[in-house]
Amino acid sequence: MYFSLEYANMCGIFGYVGKRADAGCIVVRGLKNLEYRGYDSWGVAYQVNGSILVKKDVGRISAVSADLFSNASNLALAHTRWATHGGVTQLNAHPHTNEDGTVAVVHNGIIENFQELKEDLLKRGHLFLSETDTEVIPHLIEEELRSSDDFALAVRKACMRFQGRFAILAMHTGSQTLVAARTGSPLIVGVSKETADHPQGYFIASDIPAFIEHTRLVQYIDDGEMVVTDGNSILFMDLKTGEERPKREVEIQWTIEQAQKGKYAHYMLKEIMEQKESIARAINQEEEEIETIAKAIRSARGTFLAASGTAHKACMAAEYFFSVIAEHHVNVVSACEFKLYHHFLKPESLLIVVSQSGETADVLEAIKIARSKGSKVLAIVNVQGSTIDREADYTLYINAGPERGVASTKALTGQMAVLMLIAYALKGALREGKQLLLDTVAQINDMLNPRYVERIEHLAEKIRQKNDLYIIGRGWNYPMALESAIKIKEVSYIHAEGFAGGELKHGPIALIEEGVPCVVLAGNDEVAVDIVSNALELKARGAYVIGVGPARRRPAFDEWIKVPDAGAAQPLVNIIPMQILAYFLAVQRGKDPDMPRNLAKSVTVK
Ligand code: F6R
Repeated sequence: MYFSLEYANMCGIFGYVGKRADAGCIVVRGLKNLEYRGYDSWGVAYQVNGSILVKKDVGRISAVSADLFSNASNLALAHTRWATHGGVTQLNAHPHTNEDGTVAVVHNGIIENFQELKEDLLKRGHLFLSETDTEVIPHLIEEELRSSDDFALAVRKACMRFQGRFAILAMHTGSQTLVAARTGSPLIVGVSKETADHPQGYFIASDIPAFIEHTRLVQYIDDGEMVVTDGNSILFMDLKTGEERPKREVEIQWTIEQAQKGKYAHYMLKEIMEQKESIARAINQEEEEIETIAKAIRSARGTFLAASGTAHKACMAAEYFFSVIAEHHVNVVSACEFKLYHHFLKPESLLIVVSQSGETADVLEAIKIARSKGSKVLAIVNVQGSTIDREADYTLYINAGPERGVASTKALTGQMAVLMLIAYALKGALREGKQLLLDTVAQINDMLNPRYVERIEHLAEKIRQKNDLYIIGRGWNYPMALESAIKIKEVSYIHAEGFAGGELKHGPIALIEEGVPCVVLAGNDEVAVDIVSNALELKARGAYVIGVGPARRRPAFDEWIKVPDAGAAQPLVNIIPMQILAYFLAVQRGKDPDMPRNLAKSVTVK
């Protein structure tokens, strides 16, 4: 069931129970930090004097003042939604309750059999207000509470009747407990231990930024588990059997500063600028581990790289790294297409999955397919404790710190850096690769100065009114052309397309007319001469050619964005001005680059 989803909610959920009496404010503040998971509508339920108050609305939680939730309360749950089941309306927003408002639930995922459960409940006289699958949950819990007043047991029994992948948080007027259950969608506990500064309590959220301002001590809820907490203690249980599960507490490395915007107007710009340090963190890997992975690739009967979106472009660049640096063939597949590759998988094959969030449904499906063939799985992820991290046989972390902008930036360069290190290790030259990447970090540090950023801001002003933009590259700059197009499209909504330079004359060049902006990504590499020829072909058709590369190619480039000559690490430096350009195009066109329309950060749907 877990992987057979067509639809699911990609939402943020957050709950608190503990000694603090401002539970409503806590969850609203935390929810603002989860808004990247969905921003169609929001809602909060909190217990006040034994009753549950619910407030919910369409729009963004960022516009809502936490002060509106200041009633004394120790128990609250909240939700920010990316709509799938039912339109964006106040009634469809979570939390959902039963008719008398004694049970409140927030939910991320899908109840696949909700229609049949709903029909059954309707026959029993239950009334429904929304079009969501979620609304059956509080009604079913109410049914279970008729035979026993044990709330946790009622939630567990209700969960037994659901098919699908979900994470829920529930509360009931009859108890001061927060109950959570997980089958697939992420859920993490934050532990606040009684100290002079912090009262005792527990936070439960889809992701760490919700509670990072309160604690860095976490406990991971695994699939098929539930937790029950009254704020003083917490119990982890097997969702099916109710058996107790022991749990470790883990201190996470992320800091509050990393999770906040700081002096920047948007997370996207902050995260682009952070690449000065994040790439250095990515390459700070145990040499022995990288060598072991290289050995596993050498002895594997077929190495496959699977990922989605931007992470897939990192894998495409890696295909060139493995070829040019290590002369080793790997197969790169978009995770959503991996299903059709299962014929090639053997127990001796190796699947390398790459994911920032560690939650992408298509990538999880690729892992499941590899497992079914007995192949081993290596994950390269950013989020520690994420589902992909936990499903893989082995994980390397890129250590980029939280990436909050919906458009992936620093994760991409971290992923490419780690993959490049592995390619160098495969060549037997890990130290050489590490040195090259360290030099690249120093070059990026010099490049990312305010004057450089301003230059690109001015370039954005020149082209922001354009309807179309094309980007070309060759070799490892080809995936960067595709990635540049993703960035520009998703945040500025300008139509942008990336092509391999050599493909232009096989069709796309028909689109070029006077004044169309075209970006040419160049390097000091074996295809340098060819890409300049392609730039001249564009120019001959009237294109306004913007060159990104270490050399000013006159007369091919009308504009030149200088980047350092980084050798094999050229794609890491070339993509950065394109990220900055995408950012300014969005801002100058009045769009919010952190929350592009129709998108959410973790894509937990197939
Ligand atoms: C685009 C973007 C997406 C993600 C893709 C995979 O800017 O962020 O294309 O790269 O959804 O996400 P992860 O890396 O979390 O698996």
